[in-house]
This record gives sequence, structure tokens and C-alpha cells, in this order.
Amino acid sequence: MDFSSFATRGWLGRAVRLPLRLIPKDAVLPVLQGPLRGRRWIAGPPACVVKGSMHMLKLDLGCGPFAKEGWESFDNSPSAFLARHPILKWLLWKLGLMTDDHYRLQWSRNIRWKDVTRGLPYRDNTVDLIHVSHLLEHLSQQQGEKLLLECRRVLKPGGVIRIAVPDLFRAAKEYVQNVAPMMEGLAPPDRAPHDRFLEMMFSGCLRRMRSGHRYAYDYPTLAVLLCRLGFRDVERCSYRKSRHSDLSEMDSRPEDSIYLEAVK
Ligand SMILES: C[S@@+](CC[C@H](N)C(=O)[O-])C[C@H]1O[C@@H](n2cnc3c(N)ncnc32)[C@H](O)[C@@H]1O
Repeated sequence: MDFSSFATRGWLGRAVRLPLRLIPKDAVLPVLQGPLRGRRWIAGPPACVVKGSMHMLKLDLGCGPFAKEGWESFDNSPSAFLARHPILKWLLWKLGLMTDDHYRLQWSRNIRWKDVTRGLPYRDNTVDLIHVSHLLEHLSQQQGEKLLLECRRVLKPGGVIRIAVPDLFRAAKEYVQNVAPMMEGLAPPDRAPHDRFLEMMFSGCLRRMRSGHRYAYDYPTLAVLLCRLGFRDVERCSYRKSRHSDLSEMDSRPEDSIYLEAVK
């Protein structure tokens, strides 16, 4: 059952959260990230309870199997759900409904199982940093745009979003460079460049997997989109180079990504 919108605002929510107001501000965050983790119906919207503390609110959207310390991590994979229900996971595996590989891969238990295209559970102007790595290409163009708008809504003025996506330009260039000699009869036919390019474009879609690629970005397209949605200081970044050290530490996949940052 999802209690996330229960009792966060009205008198009942305030009453349930009263004990949090009685403990020192510095102790609030460890309590929220420890025993109360995921229990937002008690904790209230994070930024509202932590108001006044020095801690930053940082979101990692489409985080994959591993939640990073200090980040609120979201993913809608069934594996994120099953990480919190090990008996169900074991049962699915025993019944042959889950492969050995999926069973063995341990997802962090503190990932919030959520489809982020349906909105982020934060108030306007409350989030400091957002990290979105290799998620946008799994969404349709419209969903991606809606998610970026939602990121803008929750970011504080001056808050930063860092986005990593597979680089369409790099993949297309590699395809053309490899296929052109074949077209001119200078190299023997080989389908590998074609397969690599289509894998980048569609990923698991070609194998009818649940989460394939549904869109592709290059730097100009994403930069124009971020500007149109009202972000400023849009900047292309190198791997692990960021205006914020917390964001640069999140980078992975240097070989095929473009990294962009933008400020609200
Ligand atoms: C390619 S992985 C990227 C994982 C990690 N961010 C990285 O860069 O290695 C994409 C992740 O996004 C998640 N995802 C896809 N659509 C999503 C959605 N609508 N809401 C939340 N997570 C989603 C998938 O379950 C998957 O774990």
C-alpha cells in the first residue's frame, strides 16, 4: 500500500510528525534516513521536515541497482520492488519465473520504487541536485520532456540537474565511418556497425525487452530542450567534471555518454 500522500499536510500529519520537531535539527536527517526511511506518511515531504538543516536534498532518478549514500534514489524496475520483498523474490525464482542472473543481482533495499514520469513527490523549489543518468532515452520524447519540467519544478532556484545519455552523434559518426568504405567497395561487407548502431538506438526493444530505448539525444537537441524548458547555464561537461562535486562523483559509462548540466 502506498502511504506517500497520507497525512503529510493536514492536522493529522502535523500531529503524527510532532515528535520529529522535538529532537535537535541535526538528528532529524539520520532518523529520516534510518528507521523512518521510506515512511513518508510519518516523515512528511522530506524538504519540509529537513527545512533549516544544512543537508542537501539530492535525487537520483532511474538509479539502477545501487542507491548512493546521501541520495534519494528512484527506480521503477520490479527488481527495486522485490529487493524489499526477498521472500517473494525467492518464490518467483523457485517457480522459474525469474532467471538465475536476475535473482543473484542484489538491488539496494532503499531505492524508492516509482515511475518518475508520474511526478516527483516533492514540493516546488525544495531540491538541491538531480542526477538523471541513462534514463531519458528509455522514455518517449513527451515523457522525457514532462520529467524535465517536473525536475525544474522541484529544483530550488540555483539547483542543478546533471543528465547523462548515450551520444547519438558519436554512434552515428561511428556508423558512417565504418559503413562508408563498404559502400564504396573498399572494405568487405560486415553487419557489425549496423547492429551496434541499432542496439544504441533501440536497445532491448529489438529483443522485446521491457525497457528498451525509445528516443535518442545528441548534445544540441538536449541543450535546446533544456533552454526551452526554462533552465539556464546549460553546459556540456566532461566525464566527472561538474560545478558540484556531489554530481561529478555520480558519473559512470564514460565510453558512450554525453553529460549536460543546467541550472534552474
Ligand atoms: C540504463 S539504466 C541506468 C541506471 C543508472 N542510472 C546508470 O546510469 O547506470 C535505466 C534505469 O532506469 C529505470 N527506469 C526506466 N524507466 C523508468 C521510470 N519511468 N521511472 C523510474 N525508473 C525508470 C530502469 O528500471 C533502469 O534501472
